[in-house]
Amino acid sequence: MAVIHNGIIENFQRLRTELEQSGVVLESETDTEIVAHLIAHILPELNNDLPKAMQSVCSRLEGAFTLVVIDRDQPDLVVGARRNSPLVVGLGTDGNFLASDVAAFVEHTKDALELGQDQIVILRADSVEVTDFSGNPVEPKPFTIDWDTSAAEKGGHDLFMLKEIYEQPKAVKDSLLGRIDESHRITLDELNIDPLVLREINKVIVVACGTAAHAGMLAKYAIEHWTHLPVDVELASEFRYRDPIVGPDALVIAISQSGETMDTLMALRYAKEQGARTLAICNTVGSTIPRESDAVIYTYAGPEIAVASTKAFLTQITATYLVGLFLAQVRGSMFEDEIRSVLADLNDMSQKVDLVLDTAEPVRALARELANARSVLFLGRHVGYPVALEGALKLKELAYMHAEGFPAGELKHGPIALIEEGIPVVVIVPSPRGRAVLHDKIVSNIQEVRARGALVIAIAEEGDESIVPFADHIIRIPAVPTLMQPLVAVVPLQIFACEMATVKGHDVDQPRNLAKSVTVE
Ligand code: AGP
Repeated sequence: MAVIHNGIIENFQRLRTELEQSGVVLESETDTEIVAHLIAHILPELNNDLPKAMQSVCSRLEGAFTLVVIDRDQPDLVVGARRNSPLVVGLGTDGNFLASDVAAFVEHTKDALELGQDQIVILRADSVEVTDFSGNPVEPKPFTIDWDTSAAEKGGHDLFMLKEIYEQPKAVKDSLLGRIDESHRITLDELNIDPLVLREINKVIVVACGTAAHAGMLAKYAIEHWTHLPVDVELASEFRYRDPIVGPDALVIAISQSGETMDTLMALRYAKEQGARTLAICNTVGSTIPRESDAVIYTYAGPEIAVASTKAFLTQITATYLVGLFLAQVRGSMFEDEIRSVLADLNDMSQKVDLVLDTAEPVRALARELANARSVLFLGRHVGYPVALEGALKLKELAYMHAEGFPAGELKHGPIALIEEGIPVVVIVPSPRGRAVLHDKIVSNIQEVRARGALVIAIAEEGDESIVPFADHIIRIPAVPTLMQPLVAVVPLQIFACEMATVKGHDVDQPRNLAKSVTVE
C-alpha cells in the first residue's frame, strides 16, 4: 500500500496509540504512516474494497488532508480524498490524473473536475467516480483549464522563476483586459456584489499571507487614498486568533495566488461567519478560496510554478487597484476624469515593466558582486515599504540569506544598530515628483546608514539626479506616479534574489523547506 498525504491529521496521536495497542509497529513519527496502517487494517474486513476503506478511515480523521492511496494488489485503481486541502482531477483521453494543482497535468489535458470538501474520488484509467465520505455518489463540477500548454514549460528560460519574471508585462496587461470599457469606466462584471452594498460598507479588510499580504499592504495605500475608506491589512494566520472587528459593514478581500492557502481560507471563513462580504483576488480558477467567497476577481497571471511569487504579485497589485478604483467609482469618491487618469497610468505599467526587464543586467552584476554578503537590508517609505518587505522576502526564500525590510523611518528606533561596515542596504527611493517630503526624508535615511559604513543601492527613478551623491549604486526604474512605483520597483529586487540564489547554486524554483501552496495552518 502506498499513501501520498498533504496536510495535517490532528488526531493522529490518538489513532497512533490505538494502532500500537492493536500490535501495529510504526516505523516513523509521521501522521501519514498511520493512514496507511488504518487502511491496511480495515481492508480485509471490507473485502478489499479500497474506496470503502478510504471512506471509513477518512470519517475518523480530523484536520486538513488530501490523501491518495494505491494498493499493490489492485494496481489499476487509485483512490483520493480531500478535506480542506486541494485535489483536482484531470480527464485525459488515455488516462486520468490527480493533482493538487492543474499545472501538474495541463500538458496532458485541459478537462478537469473540481472536488468538494469531504469527497472521495475513485480513479481508473477509463473512469472517475466521486462520492462523499459516506459513499453517496456526488456529481463533480467539470471545468476547462484555459492555460496555454506552454505554461507548464520554461519557454527558453533556465528557470520557471525567470520565465515568470519575464511574463510580468503580459500578466499585468491580461489582468486589465475586459475590465475597462470604451468610456474608460471599470466594469467588474464578475464582481457580483450589489453596488448598493459596496456603497454601504464602512471598511475594507485584506487578509493574505507572504507576498500576497505585501500586495494587500499596497492596496491599503491606494484604496484609502481613492475611497477614504479605512483599510486594515491582516496576516491571515493572525486574523481569527484575536478578536477582529469584522461584521456586515466590512468588505473582506482575500488575496491568494493559489486559492488554497489554509491560513487565508480560515480567515475568509471566519469573516463570512461574522457576516462580512467577501471577495477573493485569486489566480487559480476553481480553487477553494474563490469558491467560498461571495465574489472573485481572477488575476490573469497564468500558472505560477516557481515557489517564489513574482508575476502573481504584480497582478495582485493590479487587481486590488482595480477594486479600489471600482469602489471609488461606485461610491463617487473620485471624479470620473481622475479615475480615467489612474487607469491610463495602470494601462502603461505593462510597458514600463518591460523597460525594467530590458535594463536588468546591472542588477545581475550587482547580485554576483554581493553574493558573499552576510545580510542585506531593504528600506522604503510609503509604498516603498511593502516593496522593501517583498525584496527581503525574495532574498530570504531564494538565497537563504538574512534579509530584512524596514520602513526607513523606523531605522532610528532600532534597526540602525544592524548597520556595520559594508552591509548592503537597498533603498527604494520615492519619486521626487510625488510627495517631495518622502524623497527628502529617505535621502536623510540614506545619509544615516551611509555615515555608518553601509553600501547603499538606490532603486531610483530615471531623472532623479539628486540621489547620485548619496548612493554607491543606482538601479534606474522608469518614472511613474507614486502608487504605480511598486510595480516597477519590485522587478529589480526579484531579479537580484534570483541571480543571488543562482550564484549560490540553490534550486531557485524549489527552494528548501517551502511549498508552492501552503495548505496547512
Ligand atoms: C512568496 O514568494 C511565497 N512563496 C509566499 O509568501 C506566498 O506568497 C504565500 O504563501 C501566499 O500564497 P498564496 O498567494 O498562494 O496564498
